[in-house]
Amino acid sequence: SQEQLRFDGRVVIVTGAGGGLGRAYALLYAARGASVVVNDLGVGPLGIKGSSSAADKVVEEIRKNGGKAIANYDSVENGDRIVDQAVKTFGRIDIVINNAGNLRDRTFLKLTESEWQSVLNVHLKGSYKVARAAWPFMKKQRYGRIINTSSTSGVYGNFGQSNYGTAKFGLVGLSNALATEGAKFNITVNTLVPTAASNMTATSMAKEIMNIYDPKYVAPIVLNLTHDSNTYSGRVFEAAGGYFASSRWQVAKGCLFKPDYTFTPSAVKARWNDITDFSQSTYPTIGSTVDYPSIIREASSLKDSNPQSGEELRFDNK
Ligand code: NAI
Repeated sequence: SQEQLRFDGRVVIVTGAGGGLGRAYALLYAARGASVVVNDLGVGPLGIKGSSSAADKVVEEIRKNGGKAIANYDSVENGDRIVDQAVKTFGRIDIVINNAGNLRDRTFLKLTESEWQSVLNVHLKGSYKVARAAWPFMKKQRYGRIINTSSTSGVYGNFGQSNYGTAKFGLVGLSNALATEGAKFNITVNTLVPTAASNMTATSMAKEIMNIYDPKYVAPIVLNLTHDSNTYSGRVFEAAGGYFASSRWQVAKGCLFKPDYTFTPSAVKARWNDITDFSQSTYPTIGSTVDYPSIIREASSLKDSNPQSGEELRFDNK
């Protein structure tokens, strides 16, 4: 038998926790001893103003079960207020789950600038604001756990979601940068790529599969990644219906060109297979990049010229 992962004494903010995934996280954290700030503006995915009761209901549920929680109704765009309330009420902030989200799906040409901006504001600016306000506390106490919520639409792309995909991939970037900065302060930052039946997916997901994607099946990995025992940081995790898997970048072996007059666009074309061949690839980790200088230095010692096509590398039009 394994020990229960506990969160006694820990203070957690879950944004957008009035329903869907956020609600499932909030309930599980509270059941494991954490004090939870249940944030939700109460708008639903399309921004139609509902009421603050979304957060209230979750708080009631937690309290009925003997847990500790308070409601917060601020937009994540004012994330500093959420952190403020957490610290004023519970005295600290340990864990931030950036989960609030909205949608304005439309094909690229039909997408208005305000629909573009609205999605970037909630996901990107919202996650930035909450993390930024919590960061000084985490740094000072040498402890912090942050999850940013991405999406398969961000990592892999999805039709009609250029705004959402941009924001969601941006969150991978935010996580990775913060993971490098947080390392020496025991702050871990990871990215979650969830799939769940919720208000957000109610119109896009087939009814008959919705029951296998219960949001509660995503929650266990979120608690793992934000537990005291977690050492993973700057990683991406996919989660759906009880399936969990880490994903990462893969870089092809690539090829090197001799920097002389034969280094032409058609020389590059001739070696396209090498550039895109993943059979001998590497997997860069967060904070590391391919060692370009040492690779490039090798290029001048290459004996053979690049594949010839009868042309030379020139930058004039004569
Ligand atoms: P949901 O619509 O049930 O939950 C999102 C919550 O965020 C709503 O309760 C909404 O009122 C709240 N919200 C919206 N704007 C807000 C703001 N400015 N400030 C505070 N709260 C705000 O959707 P779901 O599915 O639970 O989504 C949670 C997160 O997971 C989102 O970031 C979403 O993009 C992401 N996600 C969900 C997937 C899914 O399959 N359900 C797939 C990939 C990502």
